[in-house]
Amino acid sequence: MQFSRRKWIKRSLLVGGGAVVLDAGVIEKHWLSITRLKIPLAPPHSALEGIKLAMMSDFHHDDFGDSSLIRRAVQVINEESVDLVCLLGDYITKDISGMAPLCKELSALRPRLATIAIYGNHDRGHWEPAMDQALLSTGAQILSNDSLDFSGFSVAGIDSCLRGKPDFARTLKKVPKNQPVILARHEPDYFDQHKDPRIAMQVSGHSHGGQICLPFYGPVFLPRMGRKYPYGLYRDGSDQLYVTRGIGTLTAPIRFLCRPEVAILHFVRG
Ligand SMILES: [Fe+2]
Repeated sequence: MQFSRRKWIKRSLLVGGGAVVLDAGVIEKHWLSITRLKIPLAPPHSALEGIKLAMMSDFHHDDFGDSSLIRRAVQVINEESVDLVCLLGDYITKDISGMAPLCKELSALRPRLATIAIYGNHDRGHWEPAMDQALLSTGAQILSNDSLDFSGFSVAGIDSCLRGKPDFARTLKKVPKNQPVILARHEPDYFDQHKDPRIAMQVSGHSHGGQICLPFYGPVFLPRMGRKYPYGLYRDGSDQLYVTRGIGTLTAPIRFLCRPEVAILHFVRG
């Protein structure tokens, strides 16, 4: 009786372990999830009402990148008829040869107004001018400590805070007084620094949501400046932050309890 119970436990552990490996290494990393959220606006930010913004981040396309996953994500975003797409950085881990196949897929994005691109810490660590050319070839506009005006609201993008040359004052310099702005910033944990009443929303990636999460525990590992706000929607008064889990994988080609994500934010009256 004792022997068979031990055998049963052993078999259960083997089956359970096999299921985890199958899920993490084969199923989940290709299983795109679409998060759709309505974001209420405070009255000073009401010019953003009706705007739909899609977030894509952390492709790491040279590191086990999956072009068919990016293609599906682009297709979904196009079907949603979004106004803006924010590409939030870490296109590659270290090899810029990953840019060409990634940008081939991203060039199919068709937002109504614009695709905005910022750089992440990995991009900045291995940056070459060819990365700019690749991103520009998709039709995206690169915002590095700069902003774009869309008549009534702006979108700003700050350089990677970990490995770039971020300049917060310069990033918002062209934004008119009292005009709401969406701030794209790769690393989320700077959310509670550099406050400005014009910022209606910060959009970030970087954390991968942990990439590998455990039940009742959460993310096993989170990167520096992606630990305080690892995933999801955060609010501090009228300040709001959304952190996406991103699409790709870093270091190991696995995701567990942390599916790749495209987030679509729809700004509505508060
Ligand atoms: Fe990052």
